[in-house]
Amino acid sequence: MSKRIAVVGTGYVGLVSGACFAYLGHKVIGLDIDPEKIERLKKGEVPIYEPGLDKILRQAIDNKNIEFTTDYGYAVKNSDFIFIAVGTPSRDDGSADLSYVESAYRSIVEEMEEGDFKIIVNKSTVPVGTGRWAKEFISSLLREKGFKEPEKMFEVVSNPEFLREGKAVEDFMNPDRVVVGADNRDYAGMVASLYEKLQPAMIITDLPTAEMIKYASNSFLATKISFINEIANICERAGADVSVVARGMGLDHRISPHFLNAGCGFGGSCFPKDVKALVYTAKQYNVEPELLTATLDVNEKQKVKPVEKLEKYFDALNGKTVALWGLAFKPDTDDMREAPSISIVRKLLEKGATVKAYDPVAMENAKKVFKGEIEKYPEKLIFCDDKYDTLEGSDALILVTEWSEFKDVDFDRFRNKVIIDGRNLWEPSIVRQYAKAYEGIGKP
Ligand code: UDX
Repeated sequence: MSKRIAVVGTGYVGLVSGACFAYLGHKVIGLDIDPEKIERLKKGEVPIYEPGLDKILRQAIDNKNIEFTTDYGYAVKNSDFIFIAVGTPSRDDGSADLSYVESAYRSIVEEMEEGDFKIIVNKSTVPVGTGRWAKEFISSLLREKGFKEPEKMFEVVSNPEFLREGKAVEDFMNPDRVVVGADNRDYAGMVASLYEKLQPAMIITDLPTAEMIKYASNSFLATKISFINEIANICERAGADVSVVARGMGLDHRISPHFLNAGCGFGGSCFPKDVKALVYTAKQYNVEPELLTATLDVNEKQKVKPVEKLEKYFDALNGKTVALWGLAFKPDTDDMREAPSISIVRKLLEKGATVKAYDPVAMENAKKVFKGEIEKYPEKLIFCDDKYDTLEGSDALILVTEWSEFKDVDFDRFRNKVIIDGRNLWEPSIVRQYAKAYEGIGKP
């Protein structure tokens, strides 16, 4: 049955979730405080790079299942479920900044009227305990407005997202599981029913447990990556091949083959932020999160491994030119958040090298991220329009992101260059026939 849903925040999670709910037949209102973004969305223009999203969004607009507004009054009045999908960025101490979530609650309450009942769903990744705090907070705001029994006007439900960038539509439509948490299970069930058509595996639980499932899942995947990266570092010294080790481990169904690719570390908007936030939460409860801290430490070191490897081949990197393939934190996205390329570029520039960088889609975002470096080293950080341009005059190449266009390349162009393959994309024996030297991660 079609339900009325408002989604607050038309960023990556809000837009994908809103468009997918609309595609499933629900009536969706996408709300954002940014009028420019809303104008573009009304025309069906997708402001982010996400394969498949433009198609389902257009279909939802054509079917009149989704509309966009900046007007909280309109969104609150015309919805029964209000999804909160605003950003929860990391503060310097690792804690999550909930100011956008808080201001969304305030704006919703401002528009609520006598007789209303709204199911407020936290889709944003919020620290364990936020749902229960939100109930108190929203109640107190409603009480301030003069409502006598605020707890009868709303329920807070947690429904974390598990969407990978670049595969977000696919992940929404084919979820491994849908997690819904609420103090009142009936309301959790109502949110769960929004996904009915997808027939997913369903976990219905309480608020803190649902919130913890999200953090534990992301932290576990991040830990798996740091684990295999540590194994890779041992493999290199011990003469073992981490790719084969990972394959051998992954065939054990208790381990699974996923997230066992050694490389130059994890980045993105979720893993670094979520592990840091869980570390912070653990400390708040006087638990010392030793494993989670190690996951982050290993990752920081792993990001600059390619530069360390390069240093073995030259007396100094000062005066050398290094080509860089891939800047986005992973393929199929233009997202530069916490990308390993940031640490690599900064390290190379610090060491006096010239960097010639190329990425198929993240160039514009990269230029924003490296604004400071572009000013400080105007001649030393060069952005190229083509991958082969980066190789001209370069002494070495570091592959940072495994975009498919880097897979089949003209290896003849690698002659006289040191190649550091930060994602084990190429077959060592083939590259060695052309390059001056080749090194992957965790290879003998
Ligand atoms: C992740 C989670 O997968 C998703 O469920 C969650 O909701 C948001 O965070 P995303 O950040 O889009 O999604 O990226 P993902 O594909 O999971 O990769 C994260 C990082 O790990 C990338 O930098 C990637 O290069 C790295 N990675 C991944 C590895 O280094 N090795 C692997 O084996 C897998």
